[in-house]
Amino acid sequence: MQCQAQTWRRVGTRVVLVPTMGALHAGHCALIHRARKLAGNGVVVVSIYVNPAQFNDARDLRSYPRSLAKDKKLCRAEGVDVVFTPKTLYAKNASVFVEETDVSCSMEGGSRPGHFRGVATVVVKLFNLVLPNLGIFGEKDWQQVLLIKRTARDLNLSASIVIVPTVRESDGLAVSSRNVCLKDDERRQATVLWKAIVLAKNAVRSGSVRGLKQKITLFIEKQPNARVDYVEFFKEQTLKLMKPKRGVRMALAVYIGKTRLIDNARI
Ligand code: PAJ
Repeated sequence: MQCQAQTWRRVGTRVVLVPTMGALHAGHCALIHRARKLAGNGVVVVSIYVNPAQFNDARDLRSYPRSLAKDKKLCRAEGVDVVFTPKTLYAKNASVFVEETDVSCSMEGGSRPGHFRGVATVVVKLFNLVLPNLGIFGEKDWQQVLLIKRTARDLNLSASIVIVPTVRESDGLAVSSRNVCLKDDERRQATVLWKAIVLAKNAVRSGSVRGLKQKITLFIEKQPNARVDYVEFFKEQTLKLMKPKRGVRMALAVYIGKTRLIDNARI
């Protein structure tokens, strides 16, 4: 991969990378479309790698959906030039990792220790292998986007980061690889994440942060299989916690049965 990337760089080919863990869906497709547009005559690379370093739960890693043959077909149909599917990216005794110590500490970082160290490390490795001009990421994982932007800035990575809006089902549920793990009834209950965001949008000015969080938690947990992990309101660019008001971003993580879903939006 790196040899090929060096050749592209030598001849001035523009390279756009879409990093994924596979089980591709409409959200990934939106990233690929944007990549195709931005690449022009250049090349679009999609990486598919279920990165063990970012899973803090071995069962979650084992049960993560995999559909490589289908993913490759979809990439071909979407005009992807190269699908990069490394078997492993880590030496057995790998001892260097990328650790961000500000924007990665709260929310997903708090609930999933080591997760963002795994994400930052694999993204730096992918950038070093593919040497992209642009890396495309989804707003769906807002904290991940901030982490990657910070990593790119602080480690002087040469790629620019592009953010693509969250793709949703018609009932508001953010499209996610994990949605296939939801049973029928759970799928219906999962719409509560988006409904909670809409509730917050309509209630921004009423009452305290604690009051609003409590209201949202009660609203979500009315669903029989829903359990809130966190609900937070924060300044978009710094993740500094804020009182909910217009322009502030809300993020939440909710278990629906055994499946953990996340979502976020500006309110
Ligand atoms: P994965 O969950 O496969 O997501 C790959 C990319 O697709 C991420 O940038 C994610 O934000 C984006 N994405 C997922 N669902 C989306 C949706 N509904 N709308 C728009 N974009 C969406 O995120 C990862 O993989 C990994 O952490 C990775 C960055 C590949 C590092 O291993």
